[in-house]
Amino acid sequence: MAAARRRRSWAELALACVGLCLSTAFAVDRSNFKTCDQSSFCKRQRSIQPGSSPYRALLDSLELAPDALTVQLVNEVTKVVLLLELQGLQGNMTRIRIDELKPLRPRYRVPDVLVADPPTARLSISGRDENSVELTVAEGPYKIILTGRPFRLDLLENRSLVLSVNARGLMVFEHQRLPRNSFSDKVSLTFGSIWDKIKNLFSRQGPTEPAEGDGTPDEEAAGKADKPEENKEKDDSDEPGAWEEMFKTHSDSKPYGPTSVGLDFSLPGMEHVYGIPEHADNLRLKVTEGGEPYRLYNLDVFQYELYNPMALYGSVPVLLAHNIHRDLGIFWLNAAETWVDISSNTAGKTLFGKMLDYLQGGGETPQTDVRWMSESGIIDVFLLLGPTVSDIFRQYASLTGTQALPPLFSLGYHQSRWNYRDEADVIEVDQGFDNHDIPCDVIWLDIEHADGKRYFTWDSSRFPQPLAMLGHLASKRRKLVAIVDPHIKVDSGYRVHEELRSLGLYVKTRDGSDYEGWCWPGSVGYPDFTDIKMREWWANMFSFDKYEGSASNLYVWNDMNEPSVFNGPEVTMLKDARHHGGWEHRDIHNIYGFYVHMATAEGLIRRSGGVERPFVLSRAFFAGSQRFGAIWTGDNAAEWDHLKISIPMCLSLGLVGLSFCGADVGGFFKNPEPELILRWYQVGAYQPFYRAHSHMDTGRREPWLLPPEYLGPTRDALRQRYALLPFWYTLFYRAHRDGHPVMRPLWVQYPKDVTTFGQDDQYMLGDSLLVHPVTEPGARGVQVYLPGQGEVWYDIQSYQKHHGPQTLYLPVTLSSIPVFQRGGTIIPRWERVRRSSDCMKDDPITLYVAISPQGTAEGELYLDDGHTFNYQTQKKYLHRKFSFSGNTLTSSSADPQGYFETGVWIERVVILGAGKPASVLLQTEGLLENLLDFHHEAETSVLTLRRPGVHVSADWIIYLR
Ligand code: GLC
Repeated sequence: MAAARRRRSWAELALACVGLCLSTAFAVDRSNFKTCDQSSFCKRQRSIQPGSSPYRALLDSLELAPDALTVQLVNEVTKVVLLLELQGLQGNMTRIRIDELKPLRPRYRVPDVLVADPPTARLSISGRDENSVELTVAEGPYKIILTGRPFRLDLLENRSLVLSVNARGLMVFEHQRLPRNSFSDKVSLTFGSIWDKIKNLFSRQGPTEPAEGDGTPDEEAAGKADKPEENKEKDDSDEPGAWEEMFKTHSDSKPYGPTSVGLDFSLPGMEHVYGIPEHADNLRLKVTEGGEPYRLYNLDVFQYELYNPMALYGSVPVLLAHNIHRDLGIFWLNAAETWVDISSNTAGKTLFGKMLDYLQGGGETPQTDVRWMSESGIIDVFLLLGPTVSDIFRQYASLTGTQALPPLFSLGYHQSRWNYRDEADVIEVDQGFDNHDIPCDVIWLDIEHADGKRYFTWDSSRFPQPLAMLGHLASKRRKLVAIVDPHIKVDSGYRVHEELRSLGLYVKTRDGSDYEGWCWPGSVGYPDFTDIKMREWWANMFSFDKYEGSASNLYVWNDMNEPSVFNGPEVTMLKDARHHGGWEHRDIHNIYGFYVHMATAEGLIRRSGGVERPFVLSRAFFAGSQRFGAIWTGDNAAEWDHLKISIPMCLSLGLVGLSFCGADVGGFFKNPEPELILRWYQVGAYQPFYRAHSHMDTGRREPWLLPPEYLGPTRDALRQRYALLPFWYTLFYRAHRDGHPVMRPLWVQYPKDVTTFGQDDQYMLGDSLLVHPVTEPGARGVQVYLPGQGEVWYDIQSYQKHHGPQTLYLPVTLSSIPVFQRGGTIIPRWERVRRSSDCMKDDPITLYVAISPQGTAEGELYLDDGHTFNYQTQKKYLHRKFSFSGNTLTSSSADPQGYFETGVWIERVVILGAGKPASVLLQTEGLLENLLDFHHEAETSVLTLRRPGVHVSADWIIYLR
């Protein structure tokens, strides 16, 4: 966060001048953030060109255990030996780990991201020659060929090559070594005494756990790996930045020297790659040759720019590759600064050019190459072999978990701004929603609510009676979210600080004192969330007696958890700061925010004795953060392009497991014109996390402040959101159960339709709704692509039916949100307008049946109490299935294990694309038959069945005769 955004903090005064300059132009100050060239390991690695790899697999050292193969790799230049461990995993995955055989000190292995040790599949050797070994994975359709010189791995499925590792020879593993000086300073010492000194040094300060997977070097390598300073190696330690690196005024001491790792993956047949969020860029990744690689390094980027690969607040090192035949995934489990280069042999060629190549018989097979580079840690990579994209979702979910099932209220609308001034303001805003008949579930409090930004406290003059305020909201069946940032004001009178200091739970400097930086409250300490003791302490802070003035309808927002350090390099923490176990911040940077989110979610669960589901919004994230709650796209701006980019940003996140994503509705910076606010409400209504939020310098923008011609359609958009809550909740249940994204790119649904591969201005919700929001000012119409040979699509506003595939020009007005229900689906809705989701949860359901050209449709509904874990612990839920075929609609149980008592019933069935029946008959479980009242609209072919009145848990059949 740069200076222009800071108000009233002492740090701001010094930088106010910069702030003034910045306020006139909206653009990131790029000089605050590193390019690849300024990040010494990225520069070093990128200077290596494809060619023959110096790495050789020593096939004689190969050992095959039931669950893993190990083999030593030697760098033929440095003679340093590494150990590669290869595992076949159940469910069509492969894991490759590479570490130093005898590291000077253990290297960081990312803990806590995997939900369990992935079950392995047996590997066997099915062939061998002088320079290669062929491996077969039990139950898997693929083989792995390990080539010795140069080292390379090839994965084949039915004899065709699917993926190669190190085919371009770009593998890098900078082994640890002694600093030059310390060696030359100590030349008089014997090798043995140096070695003892190293060991002592690291036993005092370094991580003490031995690295897993250490093996014994073979004879060839023995005696070389464990005496690195004796190696006559080509010493890249002399290169600038290897032992110390400067960025602006910040020095990174790099006590352990250069430790980066890198590896390349070749994907034959692949032209379309996705994922590796977070970037403000298109959904489909671009070739990075000649430009900057995509960067993964959690950063608080002030006024981020669109359509570039700069790092943002969160990182998920997962890439997906797709073609019409199959999908692949690469999960690079490394929490250090990471860069990803993408190249392709078809880059820059037009479709016509590619066709010409093909016709002339000369075209190469398309291929994408992906190169990962990380500053420290080990190489730990999972190859997700699909073959379909839903297999990839399932595979990735089996490793890192699925989206937490959100409490129902959190799928409603959230009203936020920085800041609601005081209790009276909160009560007024709450009342405003009722006065204007607009639904709302949550009001948010930003940093000013706390006493001097001392989180877990309240400003006693502005919020003297938080419990009364929370009680008032509870009486309206609404909630409050309060911000709790992970930086703690250094103030001896602040209990949180005093305890953390005395317990030694802050992140330390390289010298061992408490690390201090600047953030909102001024001088702050950063709790070391990588330490389980810290997370425990933090989780306990949310108990109602410790967090005074909080109540069960108060939920939490974790911001600035990249972590943001206003006076740190790139607005974050020094990489040589120390964490628990002696790890450097360099090793753990990208996982810091994940741990903050984890500890807070745990705290909210704990305060309810394990009964209630938490809701926590986080700005930073990593692989696995989906288990802890929601995330948002940070400080966007009230600009049309920012509205547009919210779609690909959330789509990318959904592909890698983080379904609960949203962008600040209205834009955080700047003042949006009414049309932009309205369009944003319409877009947000169809995105998973729906919160309006804005900067303290912007004008107030509660929806009722809009001019009347904009207020009406804004209210309608919010009501549409609420009507679809049963559908959203069911989608989230699916995401939680199976790992399928809630908001999906079209290609996920239409994997063979190349037209969809680059589309990111429209998307699917589940497999049922296609949304093409209006994101242009003054729009009169939109071009919507309706995919699917033989598919039909019903406009949910006009009920008009359209055939796919076609590009449809759809005229729009201010009230239009182009959304289409796919023929063949059934969607549940709550159609009674209420104040909040809590007021709706017992409301009757209307089913929307959209008939396919084959006269069929299917859908489902998931319901539970909306807030506890009882669905898990006591199986208190209902999962119903609806099917339409042969003019018969059937309701049956989708999961007989669950049962949940509820008063919910079916009040209406709307059938799109139906003819007029002579009669409609309802048959219920007890074989009772009733004639149902109905209405048929000939012009639109909409048949409405009135009051079937059946209980939602009942089995029933409706016959159209
Ligand atoms: C950060 C957040 C923003 C919040 C502000 C003050 O900029 O991204 O949402 O309002 O801090 O807490």
